[in-house]
Amino acid sequence: MTATPGAATGDGGRPPDPARTVTIVASALAADMSRLGAEVAAFDEAGADRVQWDVMDGRFVPNITFGPDVIAACRPATGLPFEAHLMVEGPDELLPRYVEAGCNLVIVHAESPRHLHRTLGRVAELGARAGVALNPATPAEAVLNVLDLVDLVLVMTVNPGFGGQRYLASMEAKLREMRAAIASTGRRIDLEVDGGMAPDTIGRAAAAGADVFVAGSALYRDPAGVRHAIGELRRNALAAPAR
Ligand code: DX5
Repeated sequence: MTATPGAATGDGGRPPDPARTVTIVASALAADMSRLGAEVAAFDEAGADRVQWDVMDGRFVPNITFGPDVIAACRPATGLPFEAHLMVEGPDELLPRYVEAGCNLVIVHAESPRHLHRTLGRVAELGARAGVALNPATPAEAVLNVLDLVDLVLVMTVNPGFGGQRYLASMEAKLREMRAAIASTGRRIDLEVDGGMAPDTIGRAAAAGADVFVAGSALYRDPAGVRHAIGELRRNALAAPAR
């Protein structure tokens, strides 16, 4: 359930920003890999809005994770939408496999394909929603010419490859730039952040313009459990100061 204002007064006690929506995406990267299906079902029961699969090939990032067959095996475990975050070299040949595995949103890094515009167009041709991701060193300008092709922009707030890293507050300026660029298109484009999302960082990212938040390790750090972790993240995002 993507929360809308009024869903909570938030820990800060401020009334939520009436223009703000909050989507919490659970990252499978932090899950117990020996029981992925059950973990994904637990995300659903805990109130996550979507599941993100961090797809890593050991070349674009120094880690290797989920092939399409793993995602397809988990597809029956929940009705939650799946998004594939492709941290891979040469994503084009992989696109159909992750859509067929059950991902209805495919996020491609601006830095990986040779022809980003063409690759994003291919995602739409496959019937999926398209997202484009920016590594920390990549400027917002890198995606201004493809905003007409995407439903989501992902601003990485860590260097990709691993969960549990420290949130890069320096990315908030880029979030503000992207929020302004999205506003100028007049289109509904989600602005997602991924990396270091926690109760003490999500409000900052929301205040900078993000409305979709990927969380992995924070979901498992909460002694009160995943449902409590998701609820606290959602409350803190809703309570962030108006943009
Ligand atoms: C990095 C991954 C992580 C993951 C979430 O490549 O994309 O950001 O989704 O990791 P946490 O929430 O543990 O920082």
